[in-house]
Amino acid sequence: MEDKAKILIKRLSELKDERNAVVLAHNYQIDEVQDCADHVGDSFELSRIAAETPAQVIVFCGVHFMAESAKILAPNKTVLLPETMAGCPMADMAVAEKVREMKEKYPKAAVACYINTSAAVKAECDVCVTSANALKVINNYPADEFIFLPDQNLGNYVAGKTQKKIILWDGYCITHHRVTAEEARKAREAIPGALLMVHPECRPEVVDLADKALGTGGMLRYAGESQETKFIVGTEMGLIYRLKKENPSKEFYLLSAGMICPNMKLTNLQKVVDSLENMSPQIEVPEDISTKAKICLDRMMQYS
Ligand code: 13P
Ligand code: SF4
Repeated sequence: MEDKAKILIKRLSELKDERNAVVLAHNYQIDEVQDCADHVGDSFELSRIAAETPAQVIVFCGVHFMAESAKILAPNKTVLLPETMAGCPMADMAVAEKVREMKEKYPKAAVACYINTSAAVKAECDVCVTSANALKVINNYPADEFIFLPDQNLGNYVAGKTQKKIILWDGYCITHHRVTAEEARKAREAIPGALLMVHPECRPEVVDLADKALGTGGMLRYAGESQETKFIVGTEMGLIYRLKKENPSKEFYLLSAGMICPNMKLTNLQKVVDSLENMSPQIEVPEDISTKAKICLDRMMQYS
């Protein structure tokens, strides 16, 4: 390890003790951020840890909606997002006003939102889901019809597996939606015998070609438990680091070279240390929005 990285790691450790802080990192974060974190996980795992941690300060290495969800679930804690510019373009594809319009158009439908939404949108919705629990939450939640937002692809995936009626929104993830069925076919040809696992944020025709559609936590578990040794991975490239680290004898190939989320790459070790040093930038959510959004997130915990 370089001297600079060693100094930063040492300072981070001192600051964590001084501030009673925990560092959470999403599976898409860059290697050095994953390595410095106390917990690395998917959106659902990290939300649960945020809600339950005894630490007073949460440093959230991910994108804005993730840190905001942590603040809503743990309103009395300080939540730091080391890079304020780290947003999620898909989350921006749903705004509260449009949700209200859809509720008027479909008054009998419950509103399920992907966790990839702002707090203001969650405050308008009945129940939240992540890729790890979307099907289970929709099946368990007491409604027969749902407006599902903002990801048309995850919504479509759930619609194909449930008896319930799903009204789709037109949002998508720029990183996953760009992958075509042609690319998936070519990847299979290029790496014969490899198992293809894709995130349900991919287009339906890509999901149809895959052996497994799983969230990032599901991919890690599946790759670890499976007898297969070669995997084509259809999600953001950051996951490959953890897949290889945890399964050194197995081979992992990224489905498409374009599967990079620029926002997930904005955080680095220096910014993590700086955020704890300065106790900034802090995430705040207005109380009226937070209270309503918390009901939506608490229901996800209840129904998953
Ligand atoms: P996971 O919850 O599967 O980690 O996904 C989060 C995300 O942003 C996918 O693009
Ligand atoms: Fe948002 Fe897609 Fe990036 Fe996930 S990978 S944070 S959905 S833009």
